[in-house]
Amino acid sequence: MKQIPMLDLRLEYQHMKSDIDTAIQKCLDHQKWILGPEVEELENTIAEYLDVKHCIGASSGTEALVLSLRALAIKLKGQEYFDKTDEIITTPFTFTATGDAILRAGATPVFVDIDPVTYNIDPDKIRKYLRSCEDEKMRRSETATSQPPDFSTFKAVGIIPVHLYGQSCNMDEIMSIAKEYNLFVLEDVAQAFGGTWNGKKLGSIGTTGAFSFFPSKNLGGFGDGGMISTNDAGLAELIRMLLKHGGKDKYNVDYIGYNARLDTLQAAILLAKFKYIGEFNERRLKIAEIYNRGFSNIDGVVLPANHSTSQPLNFSTSNYTNGHVYHQYTIRVNNGRRDELQKHLKEKGISTMVYYPVPLHKMKVFEGKCKMNGDLKESGQAVNEVLSLPIEPLQNENETKQVIDCINNYFGR
Ligand SMILES: Cc1ncc(COP(=O)(O)O)c(C=O)c1O
Repeated sequence: MKQIPMLDLRLEYQHMKSDIDTAIQKCLDHQKWILGPEVEELENTIAEYLDVKHCIGASSGTEALVLSLRALAIKLKGQEYFDKTDEIITTPFTFTATGDAILRAGATPVFVDIDPVTYNIDPDKIRKYLRSCEDEKMRRSETATSQPPDFSTFKAVGIIPVHLYGQSCNMDEIMSIAKEYNLFVLEDVAQAFGGTWNGKKLGSIGTTGAFSFFPSKNLGGFGDGGMISTNDAGLAELIRMLLKHGGKDKYNVDYIGYNARLDTLQAAILLAKFKYIGEFNERRLKIAEIYNRGFSNIDGVVLPANHSTSQPLNFSTSNYTNGHVYHQYTIRVNNGRRDELQKHLKEKGISTMVYYPVPLHKMKVFEGKCKMNGDLKESGQAVNEVLSLPIEPLQNENETKQVIDCINNYFGR
């Protein structure tokens, strides 16, 4: 029985072997392991690709989120960390790092529910939340004498939209809310390298963007790595200080910093792999389209919202409305059959994953430290129904067909 993994990184390495081996050999020759020339070259290459003024390499996507938030606290509040009364709005249907970063930066995460079609944070619900806060402040100020004095101190300062599975959030709406309420926007682009919204690369729209180069990401290294993108020179400078201990140089330290630099070796490997990102994202899109056709009209299976099939298969096209890069191809399985389908696929040698089985507001780490907007029903339902299928860019048509046949068989077709 042919095993079909979610990804096959060994196969990808063979595909790019000579580029990667040459890049590694170059590092072995020059021995500049800390902030060597490849780090700056990668930063410049990605800044140009995203069309942003600054990119700063970091040791992981998680650190990229924390570094962004710490720099924002310094810039916006003139203090090292946010206060607990500073609220940062995000989705509960994401990897834990998104919410953890908010806690690590001293602020309070406010979880707002997702749109059940795209699985991304629902801008209407963000708007409703912010309006309800205004109404509450108004109501309390009218009866101020009998109320505790702290009600007006909680205030939203920013939004972290997560472009889940490689698909953009509705950035027009999010940016318009941010403008109206004077909020920063930190795009979590960990899963969406190369994705677009209205022709703009994700990570170039908000105040900053945080990327992950975790090995399984669309652009992944041979270990941990991350990057921050921004057009704000002040933030870029602060982030560069924070990621190397908090000072302009080692012995004049201004802020509580980190050792969170991107390794030279990772930068070199990522530069070699970057050459393939357009080809690989297109391969993902093509597999997604084959899946879409293969699963059409299965009762009880909902396909990923696909805003891009009517668009040309060209990632550089500027009118690309929502360039989904299918970091994951995720279906929704109704009627409580998700786990059984996953078991069936496993028996047939097909790997699948549940991203994510637990929403953030149900995790102990957020207990008593977060705010929830409503019952977060859609996220609660999604965790029980989503299933991500193999989407290795180099997987061949027979393998894709095997997954399709197996799922159709399960549903008796
Ligand atoms: C949405 C999201 N945010 C943040 C991260 C954290 O990235 P890293 O694993 O590079 O720290 C990840 C990935 O793992 C992620 O999927």
